[in-house]
Amino acid sequence: MDAMENLMSRNSVPPKLLSEPAPDDNVLQEILDTAVRAPDHGAIQPWRFHIVRGEARAKLGEIFVEALLKREPDAPEAAITKERNRTSFAPLVIVTCAKVTTDHPNVPPVEQIVSTGAAIQNIMNAAHSKGFGSFLSTGKNARDPHVKQAFNLSDDDEIVGFVYLGTPKPGLSDKPRPEAAEFCTEWTGPIAAAAE
Ligand SMILES: Cc1cc2nc3c(=O)[nH]c(=O)nc-3n(C[C@H](O)[C@H](O)[C@H](O)COP(=O)(O)O)c2cc1C
Repeated sequence: MDAMENLMSRNSVPPKLLSEPAPDDNVLQEILDTAVRAPDHGAIQPWRFHIVRGEARAKLGEIFVEALLKREPDAPEAAITKERNRTSFAPLVIVTCAKVTTDHPNVPPVEQIVSTGAAIQNIMNAAHSKGFGSFLSTGKNARDPHVKQAFNLSDDDEIVGFVYLGTPKPGLSDKPRPEAAEFCTEWTGPIAAAAE
Protein backbone atom coordinates (compact mmCIF):
# COMPACT_ATOMS: atom_id res chain seq x y z
CA MET A 1 0.00 0.00 0.00
CA ASP A 2 1.45 3.39 -0.86
CA ALA A 3 1.50 6.21 1.68
CA MET A 4 -1.57 8.02 0.35
CA GLU A 5 -3.59 4.83 0.18
CA ASN A 6 -2.58 4.12 3.77
CA LEU A 7 -3.66 7.57 4.96
CA MET A 8 -6.94 7.35 3.05
CA SER A 9 -7.90 3.90 4.33
CA ARG A 10 -7.29 4.22 8.08
CA ASN A 11 -10.30 4.13 10.36
CA SER A 12 -10.31 4.03 14.12
CA VAL A 13 -11.03 0.56 15.49
CA PRO A 14 -12.77 0.62 18.88
CA PRO A 15 -10.91 -1.35 21.58
CA LYS A 16 -13.61 -4.03 21.73
CA LEU A 17 -12.88 -4.78 18.07
CA LEU A 18 -9.13 -5.09 18.63
CA SER A 19 -7.89 -8.58 19.39
CA GLU A 20 -4.61 -10.45 19.70
CA PRO A 21 -2.02 -10.28 18.36
CA ALA A 22 -0.64 -6.86 19.16
CA PRO A 23 2.39 -5.73 17.19
CA ASP A 24 5.43 -7.70 18.31
CA ASP A 25 8.48 -5.93 19.70
CA ASN A 26 10.10 -5.42 16.28
CA VAL A 27 6.99 -3.96 14.68
CA LEU A 28 6.25 -1.90 17.77
CA GLN A 29 9.75 -0.44 17.53
CA GLU A 30 9.16 0.49 13.89
CA ILE A 31 5.86 2.09 14.82
CA LEU A 32 7.44 4.10 17.64
CA ASP A 33 10.27 5.17 15.35
CA THR A 34 7.64 6.98 13.29
CA ALA A 35 6.28 8.64 16.43
CA VAL A 36 9.56 10.38 17.20
CA ARG A 37 9.59 11.83 13.68
CA ALA A 38 6.71 14.09 14.65
CA PRO A 39 7.33 17.80 14.07
CA ASP A 40 8.99 19.08 17.23
CA HIS A 41 9.52 22.83 17.54
CA GLY A 42 12.70 23.54 19.47
CA ALA A 43 13.66 19.84 19.52
CA ILE A 44 12.11 19.60 22.96
CA GLN A 45 11.15 15.93 22.52
CA PRO A 46 8.18 16.21 24.88
CA TRP A 47 6.76 12.77 24.03
CA ARG A 48 6.74 9.79 26.39
CA PHE A 49 5.32 6.44 25.29
CA HIS A 50 4.39 3.99 28.01
CA ILE A 51 3.69 0.52 26.65
CA VAL A 52 1.04 -1.28 28.67
CA ARG A 53 0.38 -4.93 27.81
CA GLY A 54 -0.18 -8.30 29.41
CA GLU A 55 -0.81 -8.18 33.15
CA ALA A 56 0.05 -4.48 33.31
CA ARG A 57 -3.29 -3.72 31.61
CA ALA A 58 -5.14 -4.96 34.69
CA LYS A 59 -2.93 -2.77 36.90
CA LEU A 60 -3.85 0.24 34.79
CA GLY A 61 -7.50 -0.75 35.06
CA GLU A 62 -7.16 -0.70 38.85
CA ILE A 63 -5.59 2.77 38.68
CA PHE A 64 -8.64 3.87 36.68
CA VAL A 65 -10.91 2.38 39.37
CA GLU A 66 -8.98 4.17 42.14
CA ALA A 67 -9.19 7.43 40.19
CA LEU A 68 -12.94 7.01 39.71
CA LEU A 69 -13.44 6.36 43.43
CA LYS A 70 -11.44 9.46 44.30
CA ARG A 71 -13.63 11.51 41.97
CA GLU A 72 -16.86 9.76 42.95
CA PRO A 73 -16.63 7.78 46.20
CA ASP A 74 -20.17 6.47 45.66
CA ALA A 75 -19.68 5.47 42.03
CA PRO A 76 -22.04 2.65 41.05
CA GLU A 77 -20.69 -0.85 40.59
CA ALA A 78 -21.30 -0.70 36.83
CA ALA A 79 -19.06 2.35 36.52
CA ILE A 80 -16.35 0.64 38.58
CA THR A 81 -16.51 -2.45 36.39
CA LYS A 82 -16.32 -0.29 33.27
CA GLU A 83 -13.09 1.34 34.47
CA ARG A 84 -11.64 -2.00 35.61
CA ASN A 85 -12.27 -3.52 32.17
CA ARG A 86 -11.36 -0.50 30.09
CA THR A 87 -7.87 -1.78 29.31
CA SER A 88 -8.80 -5.43 28.96
CA PHE A 89 -10.05 -5.49 25.38
CA ALA A 90 -7.16 -4.38 23.20
CA PRO A 91 -3.94 -6.33 23.72
CA LEU A 92 -1.72 -3.26 23.98
CA VAL A 93 -2.10 0.36 25.04
CA ILE A 94 0.41 3.12 24.48
CA VAL A 95 -0.16 5.78 27.10
CA THR A 96 1.18 8.77 25.21
CA CYS A 97 2.20 11.70 27.35
CA ALA A 98 3.70 15.14 26.92
CA LYS A 99 6.30 16.20 29.46
CA VAL A 100 5.61 19.89 29.10
CA THR A 101 8.26 22.57 29.41
CA THR A 102 6.39 25.65 30.62
CA ASP A 103 9.16 28.26 30.48
CA HIS A 104 10.53 27.78 26.96
CA PRO A 105 10.99 31.20 25.33
CA ASN A 106 9.64 30.17 21.91
CA VAL A 107 7.67 26.99 22.30
CA PRO A 108 4.51 27.26 24.37
CA PRO A 109 2.94 24.17 25.96
CA VAL A 110 0.29 23.93 23.23
CA GLU A 111 2.98 23.29 20.62
CA GLN A 112 4.46 20.49 22.69
CA ILE A 113 1.04 18.91 23.03
CA VAL A 114 0.43 19.30 19.30
CA SER A 115 3.76 17.56 18.67
CA THR A 116 2.64 14.70 20.87
CA GLY A 117 -0.67 14.55 19.00
CA ALA A 118 1.28 14.35 15.74
CA ALA A 119 3.31 11.49 17.23
CA ILE A 120 0.04 9.71 18.00
CA GLN A 121 -1.18 10.17 14.44
CA ASN A 122 2.08 8.71 13.14
CA ILE A 123 1.63 5.73 15.47
CA MET A 124 -1.90 5.16 14.20
CA ASN A 125 -0.96 5.44 10.54
CA ALA A 126 2.13 3.28 10.96
CA ALA A 127 0.11 0.65 12.82
CA HIS A 128 -2.44 0.64 10.00
CA SER A 129 0.31 0.19 7.42
CA LYS A 130 1.45 -2.90 9.34
CA GLY A 131 -2.06 -4.38 9.39
CA PHE A 132 -2.97 -3.32 12.93
CA GLY A 133 -5.89 -1.26 14.14
CA SER A 134 -5.82 1.52 16.68
CA PHE A 135 -8.05 3.81 18.69
CA LEU A 136 -7.25 7.07 20.48
CA SER A 137 -9.12 7.92 23.63
CA THR A 138 -8.80 10.36 26.49
CA GLY A 139 -11.77 10.88 28.79
CA LYS A 140 -11.57 11.74 32.48
CA ASN A 141 -8.69 9.34 33.05
CA ALA A 142 -6.41 11.44 30.86
CA ARG A 143 -6.93 14.45 33.09
CA ASP A 144 -7.06 12.67 36.42
CA PRO A 145 -4.21 13.50 38.85
CA HIS A 146 -4.17 9.95 40.24
CA VAL A 147 -3.74 8.48 36.76
CA LYS A 148 -1.15 11.11 35.86
CA GLN A 149 0.78 10.26 39.01
CA ALA A 150 1.04 6.62 37.87
CA PHE A 151 3.02 7.91 34.88
CA ASN A 152 5.17 10.30 36.90
CA LEU A 153 3.52 13.36 35.36
CA SER A 154 3.33 16.77 36.96
CA ASP A 155 0.30 19.06 36.82
CA ASP A 156 1.79 20.75 33.75
CA ASP A 157 2.29 17.48 31.88
CA GLU A 158 -0.48 15.85 29.87
CA ILE A 159 -1.70 12.43 29.00
CA VAL A 160 -2.43 13.27 25.38
CA GLY A 161 -4.03 9.94 24.64
CA PHE A 162 -4.47 6.28 25.39
CA VAL A 163 -3.69 4.59 22.09
CA TYR A 164 -5.18 1.11 21.90
CA LEU A 165 -3.55 -1.28 19.43
CA GLY A 166 -4.35 -4.74 18.18
CA THR A 167 -5.55 -6.79 15.26
CA PRO A 168 -8.88 -5.59 13.89
CA LYS A 169 -11.68 -8.13 14.09
CA PRO A 170 -13.28 -8.73 10.69
CA GLY A 171 -16.33 -6.83 9.59
CA LEU A 172 -15.32 -3.22 10.02
CA SER A 173 -16.40 -1.03 7.17
CA ASP A 174 -15.21 2.34 5.95
CA LYS A 175 -17.33 5.29 6.97
CA PRO A 176 -18.35 8.42 5.14
CA ARG A 177 -15.87 11.27 5.37
CA PRO A 178 -16.43 14.93 4.62
CA GLU A 179 -15.11 16.60 1.52
CA ALA A 180 -11.98 18.58 2.39
CA ALA A 181 -13.26 21.43 0.22
CA GLU A 182 -15.98 22.11 2.81
CA PHE A 183 -13.27 23.28 5.21
CA CYS A 184 -11.03 25.14 2.79
CA THR A 185 -10.92 28.59 1.29
CA GLU A 186 -8.50 30.41 -0.92
CA TRP A 187 -7.48 33.17 1.50
CA THR A 188 -6.85 36.47 -0.23
CA GLY A 189 -7.26 38.86 2.68
CA PRO A 190 -9.04 39.29 6.02
CA ILE A 191 -12.28 37.33 6.22
CA ALA A 192 -15.33 39.37 7.16
CA ALA A 193 -17.25 37.94 10.12
CA ALA A 194 -20.46 37.70 8.07
CA ALA A 195 -18.73 35.48 5.49
CA GLU A 196 -18.22 32.62 7.98
C1 LIG B 1 -7.70 13.87 21.27
C2 LIG B 1 -8.81 12.89 21.04
C3 LIG B 1 -9.40 12.23 22.09
C4 LIG B 1 -10.43 11.33 21.88
N1 LIG B 1 -11.00 10.71 22.96
C5 LIG B 1 -12.01 9.85 22.75
C6 LIG B 1 -12.60 9.19 23.84
O1 LIG B 1 -12.22 9.39 25.00
N2 LIG B 1 -13.61 8.32 23.59
C7 LIG B 1 -14.05 8.08 22.31
O2 LIG B 1 -14.98 7.29 22.12
N3 LIG B 1 -13.50 8.69 21.24
C8 LIG B 1 -12.48 9.55 21.43
N4 LIG B 1 -11.91 10.18 20.36
C9 LIG B 1 -12.42 9.90 19.00
C10 LIG B 1 -11.83 8.63 18.39
O3 LIG B 1 -10.44 8.53 18.65
C11 LIG B 1 -11.98 8.62 16.86
O4 LIG B 1 -11.32 9.73 16.31
C12 LIG B 1 -13.39 8.65 16.42
O5 LIG B 1 -14.03 7.51 16.91
C13 LIG B 1 -13.50 8.72 14.88
O6 LIG B 1 -12.81 7.69 14.30
P1 LIG B 1 -11.92 7.89 12.98
O7 LIG B 1 -10.51 8.07 13.47
O8 LIG B 1 -12.12 6.63 12.20
O9 LIG B 1 -12.43 9.09 12.30
C14 LIG B 1 -10.87 11.07 20.56
C15 LIG B 1 -10.26 11.72 19.48
C16 LIG B 1 -9.25 12.62 19.72
C17 LIG B 1 -8.63 13.32 18.54
